[in-house]
Amino acid sequence: MSAHGAPVPMTSAPCGPLSGRAEVPGDKSISHRALILGALAVGETRITGLLEGEDVLDTARAMRAFGAEVTDHGGGAWSVHGVGVGGFAEPGQVIDCGNSGTGVRLIMGAMATSPIAATFTGDASLNSRPMARVTDPLALFGARAVGRSGGRLPMTLVGAADPVPVRYTVPVPSAQVKSAVLLAGLNAPGRTVVIEREATRDHTERMLAGFGAEIATEDSDEGRVITLTGRPELRPQEIAVPRDPSSAAFPVCAALIVPGSDVLVPGIGLNPTRAGLFETLREMGADLTYENKREEGGEPVADLRARHSPEMRGTRVPPERAASMIDEYPILSVVAAFARGRTHMGGVKELRVKESDRIDAMAQGLRACGVRVEEGEDWFAVEGAGGLPGGAVVESRLDHRIAMSFLVAGMAAGAPVTVDDGAPVATSFPVFEPLMAALGADIRKGV
Ligand code: S3P
Repeated sequence: MSAHGAPVPMTSAPCGPLSGRAEVPGDKSISHRALILGALAVGETRITGLLEGEDVLDTARAMRAFGAEVTDHGGGAWSVHGVGVGGFAEPGQVIDCGNSGTGVRLIMGAMATSPIAATFTGDASLNSRPMARVTDPLALFGARAVGRSGGRLPMTLVGAADPVPVRYTVPVPSAQVKSAVLLAGLNAPGRTVVIEREATRDHTERMLAGFGAEIATEDSDEGRVITLTGRPELRPQEIAVPRDPSSAAFPVCAALIVPGSDVLVPGIGLNPTRAGLFETLREMGADLTYENKREEGGEPVADLRARHSPEMRGTRVPPERAASMIDEYPILSVVAAFARGRTHMGGVKELRVKESDRIDAMAQGLRACGVRVEEGEDWFAVEGAGGLPGGAVVESRLDHRIAMSFLVAGMAAGAPVTVDDGAPVATSFPVFEPLMAALGADIRKGV
């Protein structure tokens, strides 16, 4: 649902040391996929640790609209009674995906090869984001999309009645596009092949294999070649969703910049296609360690321990790492202001089409907070001066990660930092404020 009513300004003031355990919620990417694949399996999938943020709740509502029985058992335990591959019913109402690009793009893929039509919409942020990147490959299966100019929502997608399998090279590094094509390939006869030049998060591939689909990934000169055999019968699963590394980034980075801090963030998924931020922070000299490394539900997991790190240095983040930390550049650019020297982030053009134009949002917000920043079309650089003056009101632009990044900045700034609207935080990290407060942060509603 587009939940954003009146803006909720939030202010974060400089605080004492952060300490304790930060149990962050379930992984957003995996939560969306668990609901969608559960809806496409035959029988009951049980999920624990589901992220109950607005984005994922919108996907749960959407799966109900397509005919699956989705039940909330409380405390992150959910079940999905699926309708089987090709079994989606035509929704009787418009599908509102709220703020979620992942939700809408994956759901479009999942319905594109069924003979039904659905109309999708979202909030002002989602309705301004490009959808041609998914509707172009979905057209190759035989689906037809009619939306607003520039391929934007609201949009109606008519699924292919007689789908054909597809071979598609993803033109931009995007797990959402890759996943949309794979989900469409489920109900096409024969083999659908997706090629990605740069590896992006592979949760869809891992989970499809878990549900019993025939799927293989090979590295070749062209990149990663993923081959899926269509029309499988997906078997229901028990899914324990690991905690989200993209949410863990906020307490971890807060601990690194607030003097005296020592925070443990347990049970974080460290899939290599997601762990680029932690690698970068360690290269910058962060006191960040992985404890109790283990495997849970097919994903590598560890407890992260972060301590205040006054000696961090700026770094050059290589462009080839971008996909593995694409959602973490906003918070990295805050940490970079607390390091000494320049941090250069290259190959990050995709940041321009996220929930907001994140290069512009961070550049303007950091400048307002007294930080020197430079930007180009596909790069961004922060001059670290060992701290951040703060004392500014920053626009969050319906973008949860922009809001949380500046609230973290305020914890260690010279003066409080206000975000004009903290409501978007609920899309991915509904317990951000109480969790940070329990560690010792001083975040309040209001200016
Ligand atoms: C996601 C993929 C990424 C990421 C988003 C979640 C996913 O988007 O930014 O938050 O779950 O597949 P892109 O596919 O646009 O890079």
